[in-house]
Amino acid sequence: MSFAPLGQGVSIPADPGRLRAAVGAYDFGEPADPAAVLEDVAELLRGGTVHTTHPRYFGLFNPAPTLLGVVGETLAAAFNPQLAAWSHAPAAAEIEAHLLRFLGGRLGYPAEAVAGSFTSGGAEANLTAVLLALTKAWPEYGTAGLRALPGRPVLYASAESHLAWLKIAHGTGIGREAVRLVPVDASLRMDLGRLADLVASDREAGDLPFMVVGTAGTTGAGVIDPLPELAAFCAEQGLWLHADAAYGGARTSG
Ligand SMILES: Cc1ncc(COP(=O)(O)O)c(C=O)c1O
Repeated sequence: MSFAPLGQGVSIPADPGRLRAAVGAYDFGEPADPAAVLEDVAELLRGGTVHTTHPRYFGLFNPAPTLLGVVGETLAAAFNPQLAAWSHAPAAAEIEAHLLRFLGGRLGYPAEAVAGSFTSGGAEANLTAVLLALTKAWPEYGTAGLRALPGRPVLYASAESHLAWLKIAHGTGIGREAVRLVPVDASLRMDLGRLADLVASDREAGDLPFMVVGTAGTTGAGVIDPLPELAAFCAEQGLWLHADAAYGGARTSG
């Protein structure tokens, strides 16, 4: 399946002025013919997109959509299930729960230990993890907020991790300085010795380590942090371990 214009490359050089003029022509003052708008928008996207559906696209980090993926998204858009309450979308809610149990099983969890919900992507999943870890460590965080905590919470992720951690720290109120980017070893995996040193020095300084992130497939190189060793370290230190498998999680499907 390819939506790329025939005979063109994967990436077509974009002319920002021409694009802005074409988009700006829509002033929403008059009704427009939907068929003409559809064709126009498709044409704009054809000429102004890196074509992941191009047969010569080998980036693969942003995967090429499959036909069934497109059909599935269309189906979801058409039914537009509202998952805020089970009673509003019982079928979609059960499909979600069933799929999560299946994927959890692939990761080695027993069905009864799997809980979760689909997210818009990795950043939302990681944000959810920080909220869970904070609430687990300090239940009062959920009601009274960060000011109820006895000090500054800090979390640890490798220097090769996805830097949405900074945005998440900003958003959750712990602040970007609460993210320790732990140096990596020669294989680009988190250096466990450096992690232990950082946790110890933060504790000594009165800060409150609460969470370690092991990246299961780094954005830049697909490297997997030493998860079993991180799990042992976190168990010993009483820290929440989160595995960011935004990239590597796809391994569970094959
Ligand atoms: C390891 C990792 N975590 C999180 C993210 C963020 O995912 P998203 O862009 O889907 O929010 C990415 C995206 O590249 C990633 O590679």
